[in-house]
Amino acid sequence: MIIQKAGGRTMPTEEKKRETFKMIAKTMFGLEEILADELRQCGATEVEPITRAVAFEGDMRVLYRANYTCRTALAILKPFAEFEANDDQELYDNVYKIKWEKIIDVDGTFMIDSTTSGEYFTHSYYAALKTKDAIVDRLRRNFGHRPNIDTENADFKINLHIADNKVTLLLNSSGDSLHKRGYRQGVGVAPINEVLAAGMIKLSGWKCDTNFYDPMCGSGTLLIEAAMMANHIPAQYYRHENFAFKRWRDFNIAEWKSVKEQEDKKIGSIDFDCEIWGNDIDIDVLQQAEANLRYAKLHKDVMLYHGSFEEQEPPEGKTIVVTNPPYGERIKVEDLNELYTKLGDTFKNLYGERCEVWLITSDFEAMKHIGLHPSKKIQLYNGSLDCRLLKFELYSGRYKVQ
Ligand SMILES: C[S@@+](CC[C@H](N)C(=O)[O-])C[C@H]1O[C@@H](n2cnc3c(N)ncnc32)[C@H](O)[C@@H]1O
Repeated sequence: MIIQKAGGRTMPTEEKKRETFKMIAKTMFGLEEILADELRQCGATEVEPITRAVAFEGDMRVLYRANYTCRTALAILKPFAEFEANDDQELYDNVYKIKWEKIIDVDGTFMIDSTTSGEYFTHSYYAALKTKDAIVDRLRRNFGHRPNIDTENADFKINLHIADNKVTLLLNSSGDSLHKRGYRQGVGVAPINEVLAAGMIKLSGWKCDTNFYDPMCGSGTLLIEAAMMANHIPAQYYRHENFAFKRWRDFNIAEWKSVKEQEDKKIGSIDFDCEIWGNDIDIDVLQQAEANLRYAKLHKDVMLYHGSFEEQEPPEGKTIVVTNPPYGERIKVEDLNELYTKLGDTFKNLYGERCEVWLITSDFEAMKHIGLHPSKKIQLYNGSLDCRLLKFELYSGRYKVQ
């Protein structure tokens, strides 16, 4: 059994700087390469995209920086034990051997997230239960009492990953999912996940040097993510430093502060010279966007318009349009096909060649009604919805209908 330090003994700062370890950053399907780039910018090495995650190596500073700055990460996990188990008893015995008293605070709370594949462990819930029993039994033996389970807001989140008979235990250094940025004051019916929004913008290749426009902006997630990028505001700037790693025994406050300071210094360091605009037909949801932008102090950077998209021209000059129109079960629109036909007409007649459009949808039937041929189709998931991010390059002259 390999057991690595996870919140274990404190080491002198210099020594710790040099100590590198493996980590896994979780993300959404389709965003792995984008996250790999973000991690490299954090100083990560051995970066390897895998399905819905990226494996990498780095020291504690990389772990802190990845948590604070990566816009497309959902969680940063630190593996700390690997062993083989062929049945429940072996799983229990190996988990019991781990020095949990050096990892978990017996007066804190913990939870276990589990995924299993292969024939050895067919019920992930049962494997998690066995693991929990072993942790609790060991801590009760050592302290006479046990930590409580909290499935919502645990101090220590443990990931149990079993593939065939290979067991890996990982500590979640982020805590709450990193899509919870902390800037949401209110939302519409179907707000897009913040990580997906940031991923869409990055996939569009927007470099903050052309205008940005979302004609169906809802509560403004794409606009806020865009304005944060333009201002170099770290992804978790509004999260109030709520990270699980701060409860680890080897949490190094000086290192964390220095990483945060370095990143915060970049805020507003470069003046961006572009317009960021949003539009929506629903005034209530637009007010949510306004409240979110105000909270994030980005309201001066973003213009909001009220009306139907076909009445609002994008800003003048080169513009990237990134949008998330209605689709799926949460939104009922009388005639989605008609809405998509109007969207295509608006792109052709009102936007023209100065605009490049990126649109995400899970409605493959309605998608055909746009009547334009996408030059790129990228598969993404919005929750469980299989989606496509479509790129439309617009040009003047006659369009060949798809
Ligand atoms: C999926 S939601 C967008 C959610 C948004 N990305 C967010 O994070 O909150 C689709 C939005 O399209 C808007 N919408 C529907 N028809 C519209 C139209 N004709 N013109 C402008 N907006 C429209 C809805 O009001 C809704 O806010």
